[in-house]
Amino acid sequence: MKEIHMQQMKEDVELVEEAIRSYIPYEESVNRQKRVIDAMRYSLEAGGKRVRPVLVLEFCRMLGGDPKNALSSAAALEMIHTFSLIHDDLPAMDDDDYRRGKKSCHKEFDEATAILAGDALSIHAFSVIAKDNDLSLDKRIKLIDILAEMSGYKGMIGGQVIDMENENCNDVDIENLYAMCAGKTGALIRCACIMGCISTGADEETIAKADRYGSCVGLAFQIIDDILDVTSTTEVLGKPVGSDAVSNKTTFATLMGIEKADELAAKLTDEALGILDQFDRRDFLKDMTHDLLVRIK
Ligand code: IPE
Ligand code: IPE
Ligand code: MG
Ligand code: MG
Ligand code: MG
Repeated sequence: MKEIHMQQMKEDVELVEEAIRSYIPYEESVNRQKRVIDAMRYSLEAGGKRVRPVLVLEFCRMLGGDPKNALSSAAALEMIHTFSLIHDDLPAMDDDDYRRGKKSCHKEFDEATAILAGDALSIHAFSVIAKDNDLSLDKRIKLIDILAEMSGYKGMIGGQVIDMENENCNDVDIENLYAMCAGKTGALIRCACIMGCISTGADEETIAKADRYGSCVGLAFQIIDDILDVTSTTEVLGKPVGSDAVSNKTTFATLMGIEKADELAAKLTDEALGILDQFDRRDFLKDMTHDLLVRIK
């Protein structure tokens, strides 16, 4: 990534993290809920690449908006994503003990607290947008609607359901894998791009382009995640490698082999870059899109 874009990314991440901190209540103000708030903060502040919130801010900026107007959306989406990770790591799901370079939420706290912290984050996200008085009511409703749709049974949760059903299944085919990844990973990445558009009042045609871009990037993102689960190390990733194999998952890496999976991710990335070419002010997002393909974590 170009130096100037790295700086921009750093500034976006700082803005998002500051916003996230401001939206989570301080424990002192709510004594009885201290443990669940600690757990929410623990997972939110453990780090993470912040890909989705940066996409929200940068779609807003690319369309000529002020990224500050998209901050509540960016923070809300990162809350939903963090909730999905907390639950994804639970023993009933992927049963992983590390996340974002630290112990998983249920290991640092306990299972019940991790379930409740995930639940609390998933609900708090909507309240963050509802309370953003700097946005028109119309925008708030549109943002809440898309976030609900992309997080729910048709989106992220829908994909997680397929993922769970597929465990130990020996006949998972490519169509199934596409559907699963479009849900569990694609939906929130599409949501990021669409929320960035809505925050600027973009028209339907623009939103449709952002949506297509998000689908391509979302799929490529999961393919690389599957590859890194095989080729990386726990130290670099900050989460256990080999987790998919232990859970007997069919992934893009197992179904196509690393090389072909990499080629598919590159093809999807090219398609995404082609969509960005239809926009002015696309330089940062093009650089970031390419960076996601060659990422090491
Ligand atoms: C991990 O997402 C889960 C997937 C959808 C592959 P990220 O790779 O964005 O995780 P963080 O937010 O950086 O921890
Ligand atoms: C995660 O897929 C998707 C969601 C958390 C919604 P993975 O199970 O592959 O994600 P990691 O590898 O644990 O981050
Ligand atoms: Mg999983
Ligand atoms: Mg997992
Ligand atoms: Mg994975």
